[in-house]
Formats: sequence, structure tokens, C-alpha cells
Amino acid sequence: MASPSVLVMAFLSLLIIALLSFAGTNGEVSKWREFDYFALALQWPGTVCRGTRQCCSYNACCRGSNAPSEFTIHGLWPDYNDGSWPACCSHSRFDIKEISSLLSALEKYWPSLSCGSPSTCDGHKGTFWAHEWEKHGTCSYPVIRNEYDYFLTTLNVYFKYNVTKVLSEAGYVASDSEKYPLGGIVSAIENAFHASPLVVCSGNDVEELRLCLYKDFKPRDCVVSSLVQAGAVSSKGSCPKYVRLPVYVSSFGLRNGGMTIPVSSVIESL
Ligand SMILES: *[C@@H]1O[C@H](CO)[C@@H](O)[C@H](O)[C@H]1NC(C)=O
Repeated sequence: MASPSVLVMAFLSLLIIALLSFAGTNGEVSKWREFDYFALALQWPGTVCRGTRQCCSYNACCRGSNAPSEFTIHGLWPDYNDGSWPACCSHSRFDIKEISSLLSALEKYWPSLSCGSPSTCDGHKGTFWAHEWEKHGTCSYPVIRNEYDYFLTTLNVYFKYNVTKVLSEAGYVASDSEKYPLGGIVSAIENAFHASPLVVCSGNDVEELRLCLYKDFKPRDCVVSSLVQAGAVSSKGSCPKYVRLPVYVSSFGLRNGGMTIPVSSVIESL
């Protein structure tokens, strides 16, 4: 005959198992701890599109005169203060149907700038959007709870903090001849948003600009000063002292065709 305390223990164990399996099917139990802040990663098409080797319907570098001329979205990435980040936090598979109402905005502001198929979390290949949602978006829980919310929130943040506008108002406009002081670009963002961005270059050319945000989407510095002091990261990213914002040039294979791809065919091809 089991003593009452053993019965109580057995009952409690069953209760805990039941609660854990409940969490497993509803809120996913992730091996990652909750992230600390967001980085809104933006791409400069004038730089990224220069590497175009191949055209396909979904590559915005191949849209000729309709190609993007402002910073476009790369992704909204949950990060940790120590410089690392969580990835692939749940098994939620990307489903384009969930974001059908956002597709025309996503095509315009969050296009793929290559024909590559990035890998998603369980080793398969997917679209740019699938990669961003599965690898990064799933880690933005509990601030962002589903795929639709992830894409809508990112678009809203991108509209709110118009980096291209801030830079052009400070005189930093697309040009192949001008070289701009990196410090000036960083200061323009700091003055507008009261937070330091991170700038990533390819040679002398600005390739990405990351704007960092607290969980309530207010801007914050991308790099915490203790890490800079420790020499772990540089607040200036990978850029030289003077940088360019290259003008977009129509990618190879399209100069004679003037091939512009209507949004509808892009969506069908996904
Ligand atoms: C950013 O501002 C510019 C005006 O400088 C405007 O043309 C553009 O549409 C804005 N971008 C977004 C995403 O709102």
C-alpha cells in the first residue's frame, strides 16, 4: 500500500507531465532563451545588385527601371546583448497563404535581391521570406507571435524609421562618384533616431545598415559599449572611413530586354 505522500508525488508528476505536453503542442518549448533586442537589417540594392549573376522572376535586382532605389528590408532579427542570436526557435513552417494580403508591399519593400534559395531550419531550401521567418522570425516570441505578425510588424517598423529619407535629407544620396564620411552617415541616423546603427560594407560600398530596437520598437544602440570596450565588436561595422552609396545599375542580361516583371507573376512563381 503506497503512503499518501507517494500518491501525492505521483499525482504531481502526472500533472507536470500533462502541463509540459500541453505547452509542447501550444506554446512551443524552445531551447533558446528569450531574445534581448531587435535589429532591423536593411540592404542597399545599389551595392547588393552589383553582385547579380543570374536573373529570375523574384530577383528585384532584375526589375530594370523598377528596381528598388532605397534601402529594402533584409529582416527583423532578434539578438542577444552579448553579440550572439537565437535561430530556428520553433518548427513553424513558412506558409505564403498567411501573408497573402501583404504580398504587394513585401514585393516592393522586402524583395529578394538574388536568385538563391536560402536554407530554412530543417535543412530544406526555401524563399528569402521563408528563411527570414523560420530562422529569425520564430525567435521573436513572445513579442511577435506568428508569421503574419512578423511580416506586418517589420513593414511597420520600416515605414516608421525611414533610413533612406534621413540620409538623403543629410545629403547622403545614391552616387557612384561621391564618397561620404562613415561618421556623417552614422551621425545622421543618431540625430534622427537617437540611437547608433551598425553599417556593413562591401569594400567601400555600404551594403547593409542595421537599426536596433528595444522590444517595444523604440530605437537603441546596436552595440552595447561594454562589448566595444572589450574589443569584441566595432561600432563602425566593416566599413572604411569613407564610403559610397552606389547607384543601382540594371543587371546583366536585362539591358536589351528591359524586362520588368509584374508583381502578379512574381507572386505566382512563389
Ligand atoms: C521614405 O521617404 C522617401 C522620401 O524621402 C519616400 O519617397 C519613400 O517612399 C519613403 N519610404 C518608405 C518605405 O516609406
